[in-house]
Amino acid sequence: MSFVDDQPGDERHQVPEILDTGCPSSDEDLAGGATAGTPQLNGEPPSPSGSPGSAGRDGGGGRPFAFGDLVVFVDAKQRRRLQRLQPGRVFQAPPGGAIRHDDVAGLPEGAVVSTTTGQPILCLRPTLEEYILAMPRRTQVIYPKDLGQILIRSNLGPGGRALEAGVGSGATSLALLRLLGPTGTLVSYERRPEFAELARDNVRRFLGEDPPNWRIELRDVYEGIDERDLDAVVLDVPEPYRCVEAAAAAVRPGGVLLVWLPTTNQVQQMVVALRRHPAWDLVDTTELLLRPWHVSQESVRPEHRMVAHTGFLITARRVTGPAPLPSRP
Ligand SMILES: C[S@@+](CC[C@H](N)C(=O)[O-])C[C@H]1O[C@@H](n2cnc3c(N)ncnc32)[C@H](O)[C@@H]1O
Repeated sequence: MSFVDDQPGDERHQVPEILDTGCPSSDEDLAGGATAGTPQLNGEPPSPSGSPGSAGRDGGGGRPFAFGDLVVFVDAKQRRRLQRLQPGRVFQAPPGGAIRHDDVAGLPEGAVVSTTTGQPILCLRPTLEEYILAMPRRTQVIYPKDLGQILIRSNLGPGGRALEAGVGSGATSLALLRLLGPTGTLVSYERRPEFAELARDNVRRFLGEDPPNWRIELRDVYEGIDERDLDAVVLDVPEPYRCVEAAAAAVRPGGVLLVWLPTTNQVQQMVVALRRHPAWDLVDTTELLLRPWHVSQESVRPEHRMVAHTGFLITARRVTGPAPLPSRP
């Protein structure tokens, strides 16, 4: 997977090259966002609610491609392009030649199709990881490396109840919705309507519907959390220490608080606030470093480039006392 720099100002990540060459990019929609030629799914219409398109909750479930599906076209150099399958539309392949979407509809996932100039192109539905890296973003997002850690440490599973703030571009929402499944519930607080709308669009584009078990509330999480008996709260806001008390009231005993923060001064403030609060214990701070490797017949070695820093993850467990563990620093 080749990596290119994504958004100027987004210091948190680099992303794989997944371009939609079939549609002109709608950069005018992305104030402060992507520049032309960066990985985006711009211009792709969200599939109408209830349509069978996109990847769906089951990632396509092995069904043949249908119009409305998102498709990743992969060439021999492993360049990936993401488009939505539409009648009459044509994919212009980077190595040359074209593929008619009509010729892809009905094929099984994983089929290899020849372009008009004989270039082989592999056709797949996007994984959630690929989609998150390609979808339109106007905020920084938590990227798959850290999302994986958040999901396992949240202890959430199908049927669970979670709250997140803020929603941003919806990357975390998508990951949580997949983990919670159709029987779980996710409530997301976001104070900026334009981001709530973008997140809604991004989720709908991938799932093909507005999930009935997901509610976005336009509100400021610093002013409180109404939900109770939650299994987990996930915070990706600049001042999460202002939510320590509200999160303690919202999370059930034994539940988990997860806080994602990009800088050490924020981490210190948050950890101090959690340690001072009697309802939180087992406060833990980690940073995940992910090093890709180059593997070929000639050489096996770490890649020269890696993402040096994304952020820190703080977790804490909701306890009921009577007193915090004496071992707390
Ligand atoms: C970095 S983005 C979140 C990205 C998101 N986790 C994702 O993976 O796509 C931070 C978001 O928090 C929102 N936000 C900041 N302060 C907030 C608050 N007090 N209450 C609710 N949302 C807030 C911002 O508007 C922004 O959309």
